[in-house]
Amino acid sequence: MASIDLIRNRRSVREYKDIPVSEEIIEEVLECASLAPTARNVQPWLIGAVTDRELLSELGAISDHGGFIADCAVCFAVFCLADEKYRLEDGCAATMNIIYACEAHNIGTCWVAGDKKAYAEDVRSLLQVPGEYTLISLVPAGYPAGKVAAKKPKRTSEISFRNLKK
Ligand SMILES: Cc1cc2nc3c(=O)[nH]c(=O)nc-3n(C[C@H](O)[C@H](O)[C@H](O)COP(=O)(O)O)c2cc1C
Repeated sequence: MASIDLIRNRRSVREYKDIPVSEEIIEEVLECASLAPTARNVQPWLIGAVTDRELLSELGAISDHGGFIADCAVCFAVFCLADEKYRLEDGCAATMNIIYACEAHNIGTCWVAGDKKAYAEDVRSLLQVPGEYTLISLVPAGYPAGKVAAKKPKRTSEISFRNLKK
């Protein structure tokens, strides 16, 4: 799919078919995450790809609006070094690369909040991630089941501006 179409067609997917995502695709998605831009090129990430059903159920139970993680094929968990000034921006850039890399394989995803959530520390501890990292996002992924409602984005004219008035 052309890149612009990927962006136009992406929607959050919260229901998944019971079909695994191949190790090859998971590896490629992780590679795409690692290609995201970062402030000062620090690349402060540690990114999990969780496929274990028990862990997925626990992640679904821990998150307040991410119960559907329990049903996904793989959940990417983006962590960044907590002491890095631009950890949030860097982690979000990696998160979007994960989302679009999945989309390129017709794999649906939904960004589930991590940063600022009370459960962030529980997720870190569950996944045995070292204490210097902090959770930025969770991205459950899987082949979409069911239909996703059409999106009504704000109009470009509403959300943009051009040059300042002279
Ligand atoms: C920072 C962030 C946190 C989000 N957290 C959740 C979440 O916890 N649970 C959820 O179901 N969706 C979550 N979403 C997905 C949004 O609800 C979704 O992107 C939004 O409704 C627009 O729909 P779309 O992704 O289909 O365009 C999150 C999105 C972002 C960017």
